Amino acid sequence: MKPRVVSGMRPTGKLHLGHLVGALRNWVDLQSTYDCLYFVADWHALTSDYADASELTAHAYDNAADWIAAGVDPEQSTLFVQSLVPEHAELYLLLSMVVPMPWLERVPTYKEQIEQLKEKDLSTLGFFGYPLLQGADVLIYKANFVPVGEDQVAHLELNREVARRFHKFYGEIFPEPQPLLTHFPRLPGLDNRKMSKSYHNAIDLSDDAASVTKKVMRMYTDPNRVRADTPGTVEGNPVFVYHDAFNPDVAQVDELKARYRAGTVGDVEVKRTLAEAINASLDPMRARRADVLSKPERIKEILLDGSSRARVIAQETMREVRHAVRLTYD
Ligand code: TRP
Repeated sequence: MKPRVVSGMRPTGKLHLGHLVGALRNWVDLQSTYDCLYFVADWHALTSDYADASELTAHAYDNAADWIAAGVDPEQSTLFVQSLVPEHAELYLLLSMVVPMPWLERVPTYKEQIEQLKEKDLSTLGFFGYPLLQGADVLIYKANFVPVGEDQVAHLELNREVARRFHKFYGEIFPEPQPLLTHFPRLPGLDNRKMSKSYHNAIDLSDDAASVTKKVMRMYTDPNRVRADTPGTVEGNPVFVYHDAFNPDVAQVDELKARYRAGTVGDVEVKRTLAEAINASLDPMRARRADVLSKPERIKEILLDGSSRARVIAQETMREVRHAVRLTYD
């Protein structure tokens, strides 16, 4: 039996290059080595976007189309929807009985997000419970590994502590899930701020070639470089971070970097080659995405089918959990 991997993504909008580099490429690579379950974390999207959920299912289908376009294979991995496996909520409830509230208060993303998303009222129980729900998502499949970015490591640490605490009262049930960190550093936004939907500084996976080129040509580079013959800085320059992520021609990237440092290449050339590289890597995805979206029933079917397969595993775990907690009436 292959070790199990579980990961989810919130359907809060279109997916962009950051999702590709930070998660999807990793998801695709893991498929052959692990038993992978990937899900649409729709309840997690609701924890912050509860006021208007009208686009939630549209985003769920659209995101799943991007997953498949990126190479996630529904034959090999189980793709499902969190809310279609209500056992996640049952496990979450039982975990909530034993988890001290201060453990959730000290998760770094908790206060950070409340600070950052001032326009949303996040003083809700649902948002408070976010990392615990995430813990239930992982434990219910007895996952061994969770592919995540740096920002999610604290959630996973909590997840292991929750498992230990549960075991202390009810006996050993869950493996302690370990992170599988994405090797590539976080992709900056086009303006060098954090990449975010609300900053409009991302290239979406669904952008056409012309929009990609337009966005790349407007990218932030070295602000101190006023002319093409001034030596420029490569380190931390988003244009080169993107080259490293999307241009497979390493010799070309090295050459551009050397000439940039020496002040013998213009930004326009560096950006034009970058736009070509990004478009070349998105092209096969564009074709697959169009194909998948031309059969919307197919996406629905994949997610429904995956959800019933996931549910069989989740129900099995819950039988064990109810028994351990002594909630047995049969
Ligand atoms: N919090 C994750 C994110 O924002 C999404 C998520 C929910 C998740 N449940 C999970 C990731 C379980 C991994 C495992 O990216």
